[in-house]
Amino acid sequence: MEILKKRLSGMSGGRILDVATGGGSFIKLLAEGFGSFDKIIGVDSCEPGKLEEAQKKFPDERIRLMSMQGEDLTFEDGHFDTVCISNSLHHLNDANMVLQEMKRVLKPGGLLIINEMYCDNQKEPQKTHVHMHHWWADIDSRLGISHHHTFRRQEIVSLLEEAGIEVKEVYDYTEPEADCRNEAELEQLDGVIDTYMQKAQGLPDYETLRTRGEELRIRLKDVGIAGATQLIIIGTKQ
Ligand SMILES: C[S@@+](CC[C@H](N)C(=O)[O-])C[C@H]1O[C@@H](n2cnc3c(N)ncnc32)[C@H](O)[C@@H]1O
Repeated sequence: MEILKKRLSGMSGGRILDVATGGGSFIKLLAEGFGSFDKIIGVDSCEPGKLEEAQKKFPDERIRLMSMQGEDLTFEDGHFDTVCISNSLHHLNDANMVLQEMKRVLKPGGLLIINEMYCDNQKEPQKTHVHMHHWWADIDSRLGISHHHTFRRQEIVSLLEEAGIEVKEVYDYTEPEADCRNEAELEQLDGVIDTYMQKAQGLPDYETLRTRGEELRIRLKDVGIAGATQLIIIGTKQ
């Protein structure tokens, strides 16, 4: 995401928090993008083993991953200069509560960065990405994993406004055009579909979910796939 890296270059991130960090790919972007930073803490509610694995990618002692719920951050008010969440708002059970917590631990005037794919106004190959996400979300949520359909663009902006975050800058980021029928990528996604089919086995509406999975395989071949447009919002709090 060159647009965000460019925006952050030359700036100091200070103390940075990345909520729902997962494997830490957004931490990598922040560490590369900011001109400098004091520390980056990534938190996630996943099992600690996953975070330990992800931590190995960051030998830099200033970067630490911790097991924590976004709804209940164990940091003091105003502790961070920068707080972020990337492609995870639609994974949260209560996005408003997490945003409130992020706002609480952000110092007044600090930087809040949101990066989130959205589902409306997408080209056909991008719609494949959206359909696939929604199929994953339907299977995960039936299995008790918090995962919702992706938001519409305006819903993301409204979420921030409802949480009392002052929206300063908004960017729509679409990955540079690439081969949307790249064979290696399609093969890899076919494997992901297999994995999700297996996860869905035993669910009461398995047949419906399986049919949707097979339709996705066909769509991948016919239409191809491209990354859905992401909304990057830079905000602050007074
Ligand atoms: C798509 S993944 C993370 C993506 C990552 N931020 C990135 O940009 O590559 C979504 C993550 O949200 C985490 N998550 C879901 N609910 C959470 C919560 N309430 N608190 C913290 N993390 C949560 C999941 O464990 C998962 O790792």
